[in-house]
Amino acid sequence: MALLEVKNLISGYGKLKVLYNVSLEVREKGITVVVGPNGAGKTTLLNSIMGIATIYDGSITYDGVDITRLPTHKISKMGIAYLPQMGNVFTELTVGENLRLASYLLDKSEVKDRMDEVLSLFPILEKFINRKAGTLSGGERRMLAIAMALMRKPKLILLDEITTDLAPIIAKKVLKQVVDLRDKLGLTILIVEQMAKLALELGDYAYLLVSGTIRYSGKASELLNHPDFTELYLGIKKT
Ligand SMILES: Nc1ncnc2c1ncn2[C@@H]1O[C@H](COP(=O)(O)OP(=O)(O)OP(=O)(O)O)[C@@H](O)[C@H]1O
Ligand SMILES: [Mg+2]
Repeated sequence: MALLEVKNLISGYGKLKVLYNVSLEVREKGITVVVGPNGAGKTTLLNSIMGIATIYDGSITYDGVDITRLPTHKISKMGIAYLPQMGNVFTELTVGENLRLASYLLDKSEVKDRMDEVLSLFPILEKFINRKAGTLSGGERRMLAIAMALMRKPKLILLDEITTDLAPIIAKKVLKQVVDLRDKLGLTILIVEQMAKLALELGDYAYLLVSGTIRYSGKASELLNHPDFTELYLGIKKT
């Protein structure tokens, strides 16, 4: 069953149209990956889901409810967490302060339990609880950002380029955490990645977005092995 369904979406910013007739399904408890070159519209897709971009046409349905053009805070309250591409942790605050900040909408009584639960998923963060986020390595920072997104117990999590600038081995570790979250918490995950290969290896379903339109949809493994993949997706070398 699709937890999130985007249908014939045309969206952008102000008068600029970025996405043209984009349709996509995010199945419950699945890992759906959207890959595409720089400027393809990947972030715009997530911004559209979260009510940040301008929607001209089409619809977005979440858990059976039409969320097209709802304000962002309402969408996030419905259980969708968004990890934006940049600036997703507060570098001057400690790990613990970042996590508390991310839980500002929770009842005070809930925060401690939630924090313990999230830290048990990321033992490394527990060790660094009093360190400023700015002193964490790139990979640790990504883990913190994911942990922050989890504080409010989302059902669906939108991850924008969580492996950018990480060494491949660290990128793999971060992505493995994401798979664990699906397995342990039953989370539904939508990942947007430019570094296509790693994400496609772990994803269930994949979409290839080029110049604001969907060029491929199907099993992630099939896209990875698609003979036209390199040609379709200029900028990524098939190794
Ligand atoms: N806030 C904005 N206002 C106006 N135009 C924007 C805005 N954000 C993005 N754009 C434009 O929309 C197009 C798609 O950008 P988007 O950020 O969605 O691409 P992307 O696929 O996420 O790229 P990248 O891989 O570099 O993150 C680009 O041409 C970009 O310049
Ligand atoms: Mg982007």
